[in-house]
Amino acid sequence: MPSIAYLECSRCSARFSADTPKTVCTQCVDQPAGALYVRYDFSHLCGKSPEAVIPADPSSAWSGMWRYGAVLPDVEPVTLGEGWTPMLRSKRHANAWLKEEGANPTGSFKARGLALAVTMARHYGLRKLAVPSAGNAAGALAAYAAAADIEAHIFMPRDVPFANYVEATAYGANVTLVDGLISDCARMVAEHKQQEGWFDISTLKEPFRIEGKKTMGYELVEQLGWEYPDAVFYPTGGGVGLIGMWKAFDELEQLGWVKPGKRPRMIAVQSSGCAPMARAFDLGADASQMWQDAATFASGLRVPKPYGDYIILQILRASGGMALALRDDEILASIHDWARHEGIFLSPEGAAATAAYDHLLATGFLTASDRVVLFNTGAGLKYTDVIAAAMNLERSAAQA
Ligand SMILES: Cc1ncc(COP(=O)(O)O)c(C=O)c1O
Ligand SMILES: [Zn+2]
Repeated sequence: MPSIAYLECSRCSARFSADTPKTVCTQCVDQPAGALYVRYDFSHLCGKSPEAVIPADPSSAWSGMWRYGAVLPDVEPVTLGEGWTPMLRSKRHANAWLKEEGANPTGSFKARGLALAVTMARHYGLRKLAVPSAGNAAGALAAYAAAADIEAHIFMPRDVPFANYVEATAYGANVTLVDGLISDCARMVAEHKQQEGWFDISTLKEPFRIEGKKTMGYELVEQLGWEYPDAVFYPTGGGVGLIGMWKAFDELEQLGWVKPGKRPRMIAVQSSGCAPMARAFDLGADASQMWQDAATFASGLRVPKPYGDYIILQILRASGGMALALRDDEILASIHDWARHEGIFLSPEGAAATAAYDHLLATGFLTASDRVVLFNTGAGLKYTDVIAAAMNLERSAAQA
């Protein structure tokens, strides 16, 4: 595994040492301060094929996302078996692949970023971690913190899917339910962290959640035979996965591991009840505006002002992609559609991606011959209460 060369600001390119824990850039003139990227010296890997570097045996010590240990920090992992999730070919669309992130520990892709963030926290000797969460990051932090014997302090909206509250509590985290949105939770973490001695592992406010999520980019390219798809549909809240995958593509090209060609169009998918990125993209803006009165049953997409909005917009434009928003009734219809016709119970966030695919086929932005990867970022089973409410399903009625 490579050791980290330095951390680099995504806004002003200032460099920092990774010898001590870092949050965001301290040199940025523009605010908010830039998120930091982890940079490595890959010179010893260049010229080597991926097969020579990545263990072929999935049961080896470096299984799951840690098979990409060669491009991750050189530290003992805190792992619960995250990553190397199934890439399922749609039964109806020959060129559509569903990346089933619901198969991760804690049932969502948040496991990847939090596994790496907690790994580094343990490496740095941090004892108390805090996070504002839309729900799934809370469950993931709680699990990895428990595995590492570190305190977890979680702030999440009171109306998150019940599973998120139950799992975080079961793992022994300190959970505060907030009457508000993730932005209110973030403010509470910021207000208390200094006094309480918490290290803030909010989305993009430390460098390692991006590193964990970048493994999705490595995986999807490897699972497609080291080739890019034509488009990637990503349900976007804070956008860490999108940013992480784009970083993976940069690295794959630097390493010479991907067949040269056009990068995938990156499609950021949101709900029309909270669509700051879709609006900013349509306006041609460089940053988003705070979305007022955010409301959607796709709770992971209820992020009114993503911290990394400027990076997301750069990636969407550089890739020839776009951002779009679907209504909750369209998302619910896609949950039904994939459950009944594909045998897959999508999360509302994942169903936003599948609904967006249908939409962009209908508009002609994509054709059926374009190879696409649709991210189901979480398991539908984590959302039984919110999906039941959206379906007007009641147990008493079902028994009658
Ligand atoms: C299931 C699910 N999908 C998507 C998202 C959005 O993720 P990101 O913040 O990486 O954009 C979340 C965030 O909570 C989520 O839980
Ligand atoms: Zn900076």
